Amino acid sequence: MDLIPFLFVAKHRSVDVVLILILLLISITCFASPAYGFDPLDPNGNITIRWDVLQQNDDATQDVQLSIVNFQLFRHIEFPGWRLSWRWPGDEVIWNILGAEATEQGDCSAFRGGQLPHCCEKEPVIIDLLSGTPYNKQVANCCRGGVLSSMMQDQGKHLAAFQMHIGSPSSNGSTLGLATSFNLGIPGYSCGEAFQVPPTKFSEDQGRRKTQALATWNVTCSYSQFMASHAPTCCVSLSAFYNETIVSCPKCSCGCRGQAGAQCVKLGELPHVLQLQQNEPPKPVVQCSDHMCPIRVHWHVKLSYTQYWRVKITVTNLNYVKNYSDWNLVVLHPNLRNDTGMFYGIQHYNDMLLQSGKNGNVQTEILLHKDPGIFTFKGGWAFPRKISFNGEECVMPSPDDYPRLPNSGHFDAQTTSSMILLLFLLLLRVL
Ligand SMILES: *[C@@H]1O[C@H](CO)[C@@H](O)[C@H](O)[C@H]1NC(C)=O
Ligand SMILES: *[C@@H]1O[C@H](CO)[C@@H](O)[C@H](O)[C@H]1NC(C)=O
Ligand SMILES: *[C@@H]1O[C@H](CO)[C@@H](O)[C@H](O)[C@H]1NC(C)=O
Ligand SMILES: *[C@@H]1O[C@H](CO)[C@@H](O)[C@H](O)[C@H]1NC(C)=O
Ligand SMILES: *[C@@H]1O[C@H](CO)[C@@H](O)[C@H](O)[C@H]1NC(C)=O
Ligand SMILES: *[C@@H]1O[C@H](CO)[C@@H](O)[C@H](O)[C@H]1NC(C)=O
Repeated sequence: MDLIPFLFVAKHRSVDVVLILILLLISITCFASPAYGFDPLDPNGNITIRWDVLQQNDDATQDVQLSIVNFQLFRHIEFPGWRLSWRWPGDEVIWNILGAEATEQGDCSAFRGGQLPHCCEKEPVIIDLLSGTPYNKQVANCCRGGVLSSMMQDQGKHLAAFQMHIGSPSSNGSTLGLATSFNLGIPGYSCGEAFQVPPTKFSEDQGRRKTQALATWNVTCSYSQFMASHAPTCCVSLSAFYNETIVSCPKCSCGCRGQAGAQCVKLGELPHVLQLQQNEPPKPVVQCSDHMCPIRVHWHVKLSYTQYWRVKITVTNLNYVKNYSDWNLVVLHPNLRNDTGMFYGIQHYNDMLLQSGKNGNVQTEILLHKDPGIFTFKGGWAFPRKISFNGEECVMPSPDDYPRLPNSGHFDAQTTSSMILLLFLLLLRVL
């Protein structure tokens, strides 16, 4: 599968319609078959934890750098972010840490009377620091509050790093044992064991100086939507200019109204003030609906021109307790170049999908070329094959229910030659 993502889109909050489409320059090729990944749109997606031994000291301690790299194309890690933990094989301890914080709640008896290290438990938990951290406690790529962007959205912020000075009171001179049982502390992710890989090469002083780690291990963590939550979190509704039927999200897509434990707020009512635990993602409090999803994506086939057709996509946040920052939408449709398109908000403009309410939506319109040979309004062809929001697959209506073309077929394909999706550069209509 090839992807041409395009940056995208939307409706300004105070302006009636603003439409901006910017062609993104990246093209990514994914070469695996959908069979072995959890996510067919991103079969190789993973988060890799890299353990680089930077220095072996005379006192049998080591300086180590850990990097957490988000190799997932569409899924990002949002607040409250990662909380990395692992198990030491022996009595290793973290004497000092830069760019993150290690919790101290373990058995520190071995060090009573001596100098207490930063962290002295068998299973440390490392938490990221916030961006305002003093410079003397920072390292490169640290301190983003545990947040990692997806690879496609922000190449610079898809990794996190911190450094530790580690040792073991019982080993002198011998190498330190390798940690096991890594856990990112984010629901849905599970990590494998560490395996040794060729040492990382670092480039310093803007490439003038090259250094190399003494040894490097990688741990791969993968995501499963099933493990993260048993219920989907997003659904799709459909409509078209040629039929007045609006096909809503399938009933009980994300939960059933009235079901035990299903909490919802009726339209127009205000949700109870919620007592949120710090560092705990809020449980969705959704607007009552037949689908009970926190996110609804509406695909409207809006217009047909001679050579083009137009689609309006609206993403609505029905969750009263969450602003979705750095949201993204991935659409699979045969008319998009290479089948797949990625949409996301413009920074400082609509990259935040606000909580349920009158501003809780973002919209875009896309103009698609009527490719000869494949384009048709018949048989529901104009509707997406698959949609995912923030990497979570959305529940689609059954193809049997799609808005049907009236019997006369005069809306059908026009001829032209290119396979290319046309992107608007700028079109503004401000009311
Ligand atoms: C993790 O993702 C990277 C980047 O896509 C890929 O090169 C690597 O093979 C993946 N690792 C595994 C174990 O799948
Ligand atoms: C290492 O340990 C041995 C015994 O366990 C001890 O005799 C030796 O002095 C130690 N060396 C150092 C450098 O601490
Ligand atoms: C180890 O992880 C790094 C990410 O920091 C990645 O670039 C590299 O390809 C990985 N090596 C292997 C053999 O998976
Ligand atoms: C969402 O963002 C708005 C505007 O920045 C803010 O007023 C609101 O409190 C935020 N809601 C949540 C749940 O964080
Ligand atoms: C998708 O784009 C790649 C180059 O980015 C090209 O090689 C491939 O033929 C294209 N596939 C389709 C179906 O357009
Ligand atoms: C519109 O689509 C619905 C759902 O497929 C179908 O039942 C209905 O007959 C269609 N209306 C017209 C006028 O074709």
